[in-house]
Amino acid sequence: MIKLSKLAAAVALAVAGNAVMAGEVEVLHWWTSGGEAKSVGELKKIMQAKGNTWKDFAVAGGGGDNAMTVLKSRVVAGNPPAAAQIKGPAIQEWAAEGVLANLDPVAKAEKWDELLPKVVADVMKYKGNYVAAPVNVHRVNWMWANSAVLKKAGVNGTPKTWDEFFVAAEKVKKAGLIAVAHGGQNWQDFTTFESVVLGVGGAKFYNDALIKLDPKALTSATMTKSLETFRKVKGYTDAAAPGRDWNLATAMVIQEKAAFQFMGDWAKGEFTAAGKVPGKDYICAAAPGTANAYTFNVDSFAMFKLKDAAAQKAQADLAAAIMGTQFQEVFNLNKGSIPVRLNMDMSKFDDCAKLSSKDFVATSKTGGLLPSIAHGMAVQPAAEGAIKDAVSQFWNNDKMSVADGVSSIAKAAATK
Ligand code: BGC
Repeated sequence: MIKLSKLAAAVALAVAGNAVMAGEVEVLHWWTSGGEAKSVGELKKIMQAKGNTWKDFAVAGGGGDNAMTVLKSRVVAGNPPAAAQIKGPAIQEWAAEGVLANLDPVAKAEKWDELLPKVVADVMKYKGNYVAAPVNVHRVNWMWANSAVLKKAGVNGTPKTWDEFFVAAEKVKKAGLIAVAHGGQNWQDFTTFESVVLGVGGAKFYNDALIKLDPKALTSATMTKSLETFRKVKGYTDAAAPGRDWNLATAMVIQEKAAFQFMGDWAKGEFTAAGKVPGKDYICAAAPGTANAYTFNVDSFAMFKLKDAAAQKAQADLAAAIMGTQFQEVFNLNKGSIPVRLNMDMSKFDDCAKLSSKDFVATSKTGGLLPSIAHGMAVQPAAEGAIKDAVSQFWNNDKMSVADGVSSIAKAAATK
């Protein structure tokens, strides 16, 4: 009896010991499509291999607006998750609230300053301290095309300009297929919009209009031309587009129902998950007129202040894992993005990722590397949300004149 009770006490101690060692990480994200879920599953595996418990907090909704709403209510209730997918200037806003944890101990030990491009490191820091860990670099200004559909429609090569694009789109339409697979949700409209503005106006114009929010650029003839082009693109989408999720639009391209989609390279994650091969089954090309530019979208996890020691330890493990070579490779192979960590071996990556990597470096030297406004990289969330709504109102209302569209977008850009 005595022996048994000793054993029970020893077991209880060991269990308690484990509880201190292994912590739980609750991770809020919006990665719920096929390719996304596979990617985040790799992070879960790495965390579990370190003995931690993964508590998945997935909030469906491409672009993350739903996830951000849920996050706010959790933080207001004083119960934040350990980590949340937060990007760009929003990281600074959360940090200014005093709710984010200081990740410097991990960042220093793992030498993040040496392993990250400075433009990325700066966004992850608040007042000089790391408060978020970056995951990847997504390129937004892509056009995805189905090779078989283009062949059927008699389109040779991918269009390089918007004029060429409309010629190709017309051929696809005549062949009885959908030219542009689109999901009519405001962030998807906005994603297409930023590529159109970049293609029509070039990098300098994008910078003036959509990053600096310069009223002159926003009301210029180039903006008028951009909205005319944007509306013309809509003419090649199908009637069922409103409300459609982005991955279902990608599926239309994968299944040879549609020719093109304008979407960031998380779309490639869907092609990969479906076993499709770039250059054979599908084509990745810069959106028309944007080959010399690169709109970037860096996913990152901001970490919240936690009280429990085991949870803090698990959180530090998560931060270290995110920047580790194992995760950076396997996650990005599935996600369609490229590693954010510098000097990674790219040999396992496909041609689209290699092109993205090459263009990221090349455009960083020419001024063509630009933050994506549609994906929370360029301006404060309030202005971004207002512009996004104005863009969608124009997209959805064919009766609204281009002049009215221009002025409502310019007005929205002044939102503070
Ligand atoms: C995120 C991607 C995600 C996409 C669709 C983007 O804003 O950066 O990681 O795959 O939204 O949900």
